[in-house]
Amino acid sequence: MGDIAKIILNGNEYEFPVLTGTEQEKAIDMRTLRLKTGYIAFDPGYANVGSCQSAITFIDGDKGILRYRGIPIEQLAEHASFVEVAYLLIYGELPNEKELNKWSAEFTEHSMIHEDMKNFFDGYPAGGHPMGILSAMVCSLSAYYPELERVELTSMDFRRISVELISKVRTIAAFSYKKKIGEPFVYPRSDLKYIPNFLNMMFSSPNRVYEVQDCVANALRTLFVLHADHEQNCGTSSVRMVGSSLANLYASVSAGICALWGPLHGGANQRVTEMLQSIQQSGGDVAHFITQVKDRKNNTKLMGFGHRVYKNYDPRAKIIKQRTDVLLNKLGIHDPLLEIALKLEEAALKDSFFVERKLYPNVDFYSGIIYRAIGIPVDMAPVMFAMARMAGWIAHWKEMRDEADLRISRPRQVYVGHQQRDFIPMEKRG
Ligand code: SDX
Repeated sequence: MGDIAKIILNGNEYEFPVLTGTEQEKAIDMRTLRLKTGYIAFDPGYANVGSCQSAITFIDGDKGILRYRGIPIEQLAEHASFVEVAYLLIYGELPNEKELNKWSAEFTEHSMIHEDMKNFFDGYPAGGHPMGILSAMVCSLSAYYPELERVELTSMDFRRISVELISKVRTIAAFSYKKKIGEPFVYPRSDLKYIPNFLNMMFSSPNRVYEVQDCVANALRTLFVLHADHEQNCGTSSVRMVGSSLANLYASVSAGICALWGPLHGGANQRVTEMLQSIQQSGGDVAHFITQVKDRKNNTKLMGFGHRVYKNYDPRAKIIKQRTDVLLNKLGIHDPLLEIALKLEEAALKDSFFVERKLYPNVDFYSGIIYRAIGIPVDMAPVMFAMARMAGWIAHWKEMRDEADLRISRPRQVYVGHQQRDFIPMEKRG
């Protein structure tokens, strides 16, 4: 007999089963709470609530552990390509050579967007944030492939949409950059792999051939692997929530892009760079900025610090920090913002305000330094995050849709508004 949890309400005792995960995580199964007791559980922000059982990613926030399908992130960051990790997340196993070659060839085949989509770019203001363009374009892809909008997808349909989305987001992202700088679009090439193809679309032009340096491609590969998934974060939960209504995959991941855009989530990487630039422009006084953060009246956050799950150093931040050093040394770049970031980290990790709240650098703290070194503009940092996270969103959408007892996500509430009252005719209103 497994563990049980007991709740005593109004003198009655109610029992609920306890679920135990692969890594011995425990959860009280509350699926019958309202039926048995008439009560609901209350947890705004869902900090104490599990929305699903998942086999994709495991995080231990206290120990700073992150694994995709059981494989430690450190090993994947060292050895795996992003396309390989996308396959692992979606299909559950690393591909063999034949599977990887076929999967990779499909990315090349589906890297173009419909020529009509270029009209979208014509209509967009050049200053539009690229995350707004990305979410709109991704959702609009469903209009070009209506056959893939069917509720019940065959495995071939699902694979086709997965490849379309992960491959085309590169092209859409690069085209949004070219639109912004007023250069002609550079089309994807069939002789380039995933990341070099993206870099070429971003930085080549009719009068400039961009040479992809190994250290740059490797730094981006590492970032893409590290950002590919992170279990039930805000963006992924949004994808699951939208997908639970049987909305198509394009619409579901478009919702994920919108959630990720927020500065508390994936948009934080852009805010970190802006924060570092602001500190630099005001003389680089790190101690003064830390004081501002600690003075709650300012409502100033140390962006790139803190995490709902990690109460220890985010393992991804550790890797990104190392890769930042390697890349800047290889490129011979001295970025003053990196100095400021390092001083901020050093000051925060010694300061009781941050230590007591278990605030450590998260995935967003150093990534912007790498994007700057490569020449990727600040407002495209969240787009880079979304491009990589597309793999995890697709994996979670599929896992959710394959659930035998799939139910539409529909939380309850505690109503705190007016009790019943009558309509007041206009002439009697104040
Ligand atoms: C991502 O969930 C995921 O997995 C997300 C992600 C992924 O891969 O998908 O890891 C990606 O979103 C990383 C997080 C990026 N966001 C930021 O860097 C923004 C700055 N961080 C914070 O806004 C905050 O830490 C969150 C949003 C990340 C977490 O918020 P929580 O869990 O709701 O924590 P909280 O706001 O309750 O903070 C607890 C305390 C509070 O102080 P007290 O009220 O107890 O006095 O810590 C303080 C907060 O004010 N605090 C911070 C802080 N983060 C938390 N104070 C200053 N600076 C910060 N960054």
